[in-house]
Amino acid sequence: MDLPDFKSLTDRQSPIYLQLYWRFRNAIATGKLAPGDRVPSIRSLASELNLARGTVEAAYQMLSSEGYLIGRGPAGTVVSPQLDGRVSATTPVGSSALPRSGQIKLAASKPLQLGLPALDAFPRKTWVRLAGRNLRAMNVADMVNADPNGYEPLRRAIAAYLAVSRGIACTPDQVFVTAGYRGALELIRRTLFRHGDSGWFEDPGYLHARRFLEDAGMQLVPLPVDDDGLNVESGLRHAVDTRFAVVTPTHQSPSGVALSLPRRLALLDWAQAQRAWIIEDDYDSEFRYDGRPLPPLKSLDHAGRVLYAGTFSKVLYPGLRLAYLVVPEHEIGKFRNSMAQLGRSPVLFQATVADFMEQGHFARHIKKMRSLYATRREYLVRALAQVFGDMLLVPERAGGIHVVAHLKPKYNDKAFAAAANAKGLAIMALSEWCIRRRSPVGLLMGFANIATPEQALKYVRRLREAFEH
Ligand SMILES: Cc1ncc(COP(=O)(O)O)c(C=O)c1O
Repeated sequence: MDLPDFKSLTDRQSPIYLQLYWRFRNAIATGKLAPGDRVPSIRSLASELNLARGTVEAAYQMLSSEGYLIGRGPAGTVVSPQLDGRVSATTPVGSSALPRSGQIKLAASKPLQLGLPALDAFPRKTWVRLAGRNLRAMNVADMVNADPNGYEPLRRAIAAYLAVSRGIACTPDQVFVTAGYRGALELIRRTLFRHGDSGWFEDPGYLHARRFLEDAGMQLVPLPVDDDGLNVESGLRHAVDTRFAVVTPTHQSPSGVALSLPRRLALLDWAQAQRAWIIEDDYDSEFRYDGRPLPPLKSLDHAGRVLYAGTFSKVLYPGLRLAYLVVPEHEIGKFRNSMAQLGRSPVLFQATVADFMEQGHFARHIKKMRSLYATRREYLVRALAQVFGDMLLVPERAGGIHVVAHLKPKYNDKAFAAAANAKGLAIMALSEWCIRRRSPVGLLMGFANIATPEQALKYVRRLREAFEH
């Protein structure tokens, strides 16, 4: 047996256990280590390389969990015999065992799918390193129980992030970590609402929130959205006496417009006068390409009527299922009581997000994505203009990770979307996000995973084909 070359474990960028892991994988992929070969015991390799046993153990654990190594009791640890023929020299043998950006197959996602961040640009290597570190550092307390309000260092990191990037002053105690935005809505519903309570809802508005709230027995009062966002005046005129309002002030979902400052102030005044609650869904405020965003409602909330929700689905990835809710100080106790009844998110991922934020990766990633998304948006907008001309109208927007392409009212956007999706795309009809009958028509498309102008053109041509048939 030819052992991997361990002489130069000197890559300062990655921890030793990962370098060890890579060396083993390379050795297996290139045939230096064959299926069935015995590898040194943890103790002897640690002593030979002058490393802590835990370091070697961590590498062996990763290799075992991925099926490369297999423990044979007293006979030691061997390269899995089942690898025969499965690992060839074509297995990636670069310095990283992780798929590099661009190599990742987006099988689980579809072209133009809404709501997805750029999965190919996610810093997987850093993420896996931090997750691995947290996994190894797990202590008994983490294994026994988790803080029901959310992992404390993560709540601290979120409070610090909000202070710097959104001008929101809150303590970590005001922050609750939830299972996605829907987890935040469930927490609010349990804590503050009763069955049948009514609330303003943007029309068009975020489909999943609407379904969730309706299923939970809330009465939604649709309010129109125009170029200044939610029409607050309409709410004041027709339905002043409601318990809550759900709004997406930074980039209205789905139109992308910003709620104007006068309307923000009117909404806050209304909530204070009515003792109503404003649910501020700030789901993708990080992605802005033009100018400075208006201050979030929460930063102007002197009366303590705003429940501020943020999510990691857009900045990191939606499968993480992590979001957060910031509540007014005087409501902390009630929210804690509700949290005690709800399911908790795994500490491992909360701790990994906390490290990701504290070590500056979060801010760096957002900065990178901002310019990437501005470019990718342009790919899609240009391709739409080239293929559809003035049949589709795409308004300029300052941010977000999807576009709304408006159609003339004579078209049936649901039929259009269905035909496109039958061709493998994943777009949505604007009218599906509307509550009223006479709704605008258009198509909602995500652009974050469009890697090149050619790809944009390919998808948009497919969209056109769907339209022609
Ligand atoms: C308008 C809006 N709010 C919130 C979210 C976040 O949802 P979650 O945290 O459940 O992924 C999304 C995600 O797509 C969204 O589009």
